[in-house]
Amino acid sequence: MITIDGKVAIVTGGAKGLGRATAERLIQAGSSGVVVADVCAEEVRKAAGEITNTYGVEVLPCCTDVSDQTQVEAMAKAALDKFGRIDILVNNASICPVVSWEDATLENWNKILSVNLTGMYLCTRAVIPHLKSRGNGRIVYVSSPSAYIGSVVAHVAYGVSKAGIIALMKFVAKNFAGDGILANAILPGPMDTPMGHSFGEELWKAWEQKAPLKRHASASEIADSILFLVSDQSSYITGHVLWVDGGYSLT
Ligand SMILES: NC(=O)c1ccc[n+]([C@@H]2O[C@H](COP(=O)([O-])OP(=O)(O)OC[C@H]3O[C@@H](n4cnc5c(N)ncnc54)[C@H](O)[C@@H]3O)[C@@H](O)[C@H]2O)c1
Repeated sequence: MITIDGKVAIVTGGAKGLGRATAERLIQAGSSGVVVADVCAEEVRKAAGEITNTYGVEVLPCCTDVSDQTQVEAMAKAALDKFGRIDILVNNASICPVVSWEDATLENWNKILSVNLTGMYLCTRAVIPHLKSRGNGRIVYVSSPSAYIGSVVAHVAYGVSKAGIIALMKFVAKNFAGDGILANAILPGPMDTPMGHSFGEELWKAWEQKAPLKRHASASEIADSILFLVSDQSSYITGHVLWVDGGYSLT
């Protein structure tokens, strides 16, 4: 069984979907504290309360817009004030609006890049000094197959942001390996989350039929891969891009 006993994690976009499933999985695996950070203030407080009640481990909600440097720095400080350490960052928060090429604007292009890419950069920057000082740390970047194949139905900037995340991850893996920091990316296939369903039921069903396993992933199956990458069981894996798509990319 994979354990991360005593480790403290920050999970961005933790109010729902994959972020929430990851927060729960890390706690089930022995994490001593998790910060769930999200723009949805009410939802993030509710999620944190529910997880704490279920597992009896403190989950700290942070109302954080990952694209806002001040809020991100406050999130890292809150984690340290509350738990005294940070071991793990799960860079998960993203937006994926469906906007055609014709309707795309510089404004919505900038918005998507600022949340999906700059947000992961800011969160990385905020935790690196602490991880370096401990000589240990794990960062997982949640990318997407769109990084390789381009956005499918989403705004063009979504795939661009997800490709940028992989370059960011590789930089971190190369430059901070000597500080004991391992960084990896996962590429989930279609997943049973609010984002996964936001493209409409017709597409959802069509993608399901196309999938080799004839089903989409649950968020907790994807969270399992994140748990592996932040655990001691992956101690020689860094700079890796892990497809967790049930073979969807083969179709
Ligand atoms: N759902 C899929 O099919 C799928 C497929 C491939 C990759 N992904 C990736 O997986 C990750 C999780 O996706 P999901 O399906 O759980 O999405 P979701 O939309 O269900 O949840 C995303 C969470 O991020 C939060 N968020 C949005 N903007 C934020 C911001 N500025 N600051 C902080 N939090 C913010 C939302 O409030 C929400 O709680 C994302 O990075 C997404 O791109 C999802």
